[in-house]
Amino acid sequence: MKIAMIGSGYVGLVSGACFADFGHEVVCVDKDAAKIDRLNANIMPIYEPGLDALVKSNVDAGRLSFSTDVLRSVKGCDAVFIAVGTPSRRGDGHADLSYVYAAAEELASAIIDPRTVVVTKSTVPVGTGDEVERIIRETNPQLEFAVVSNPEFLREGAAIGDFKRPDRIVVGSDVEWARDVMRAVYRPLFLNESPLLFTSRRSSELIKYAANAFLATKITFINEMADLCEKLGANVQDVSRGIGLDNRIGSKFLHAGPGYGGSCFPKDTLALLKTAQDHETPVRIVEAVVQANDLRKRAMGRKIITALGGDVRGMKIALLGLTFKPNTDDMRDAPSIAIVQTLLDAGAIVHAHDPEGMEEAAKILPDVIMASSAYDAAKNAHAVALITEWDAYRALDLKKLHAAMAGDVLVDLRNIYRTEEAQAAGFNYVSVGR
Ligand code: UDX
Repeated sequence: MKIAMIGSGYVGLVSGACFADFGHEVVCVDKDAAKIDRLNANIMPIYEPGLDALVKSNVDAGRLSFSTDVLRSVKGCDAVFIAVGTPSRRGDGHADLSYVYAAAEELASAIIDPRTVVVTKSTVPVGTGDEVERIIRETNPQLEFAVVSNPEFLREGAAIGDFKRPDRIVVGSDVEWARDVMRAVYRPLFLNESPLLFTSRRSSELIKYAANAFLATKITFINEMADLCEKLGANVQDVSRGIGLDNRIGSKFLHAGPGYGGSCFPKDTLALLKTAQDHETPVRIVEAVVQANDLRKRAMGRKIITALGGDVRGMKIALLGLTFKPNTDDMRDAPSIAIVQTLLDAGAIVHAHDPEGMEEAAKILPDVIMASSAYDAAKNAHAVALITEWDAYRALDLKKLHAAMAGDVLVDLRNIYRTEEAQAAGFNYVSVGR
């Protein structure tokens, strides 16, 4: 199969490299010539474990290439994927579809081969596939083509594994020949018994939003239970385990923490709200989730302030982990941003360390002083707050950390440490829902 990926960002790059690894011939296209030059030199635009090696081996094997030229790239393709960004539109939270529609317009005049499948991988509101189809048909009325929805469910930091061992592959199209092309594209996974679920295009588009909204709801639910546990003297980890063992609930995504962040949940929950409101069918549960999660991030900043006695003016606070989760350098909607703001507003001096995210973080958080290690950040600090559960922070020498500090407060927003061990190291230890 010959495949073109329009957009070489997170999703386009990971999907393109994985398709090439299946044996397909793939070209990843991007408007950003500098990015394409770097990719040709095997320099990745993002940090994703295993991606550089996967890209290199497939480029070396001649199956994967990079280009800025849409016209040349789509020639002879069986499937052309649209994998461009759909950020939140400033002002109203709707998904900004301008990049998707611009790609559709470009494809409309570029595709000449009959029976090319145009696949929307970008997360797009229900009905976007109809519009992409209309745009292409208007410019190129003679072309026999199909527009298919095929949402991605990749987690940053685990994206390659998620792509190669998915829980399911969702394909939204009623066109039988297009379904056959998608079967061939995903054949290696299909042979591995990953379920291939065919639905209508609109159902497929909604599946992506519903999945992310459900997961965001699960996280927010356990976060509120954690707050309740603190008031009731219960332990949220026991509650998670106790409810998660029920197969109908499931144990995943029940870790209490500082609130969800990242490139998907905040943006997709908001976009779903807007779609629902536009159709006069409010989704009140998701509305509550979005609001609770927003409030939670600043509340976590206040939790640190309270642990320090309520007045942190002039105090040094060290944050461990800034990215929205481990194994990524992504700072988009990271809870650390609101936490830092709350601490700075209260007059604290904020130092921080993150294994991969400091370069990105420095752009967004110019007032934070970056440290070379966790212990370096903790030097003379009144409190250390663990924000992101990087492996590097899972087995800290707590005695050494404590000895470096001026104070004794350890706020563990990911419940990594046991209360007894932190107390034994001399800490005044605060965690979430325990
Ligand atoms: C998510 C979805 O998992 C993925 O299927 C979709 O395609 C894109 O969005 P991602 O944003 O990479 O992936 O990260 P994920 O691992 O899902 O975590 C999202 C956020 O939820 C993080 O901020 C994480 O810390 C938080 N989280 C997750 C919790 O607070 N508790 C949990 O139990 C799980």
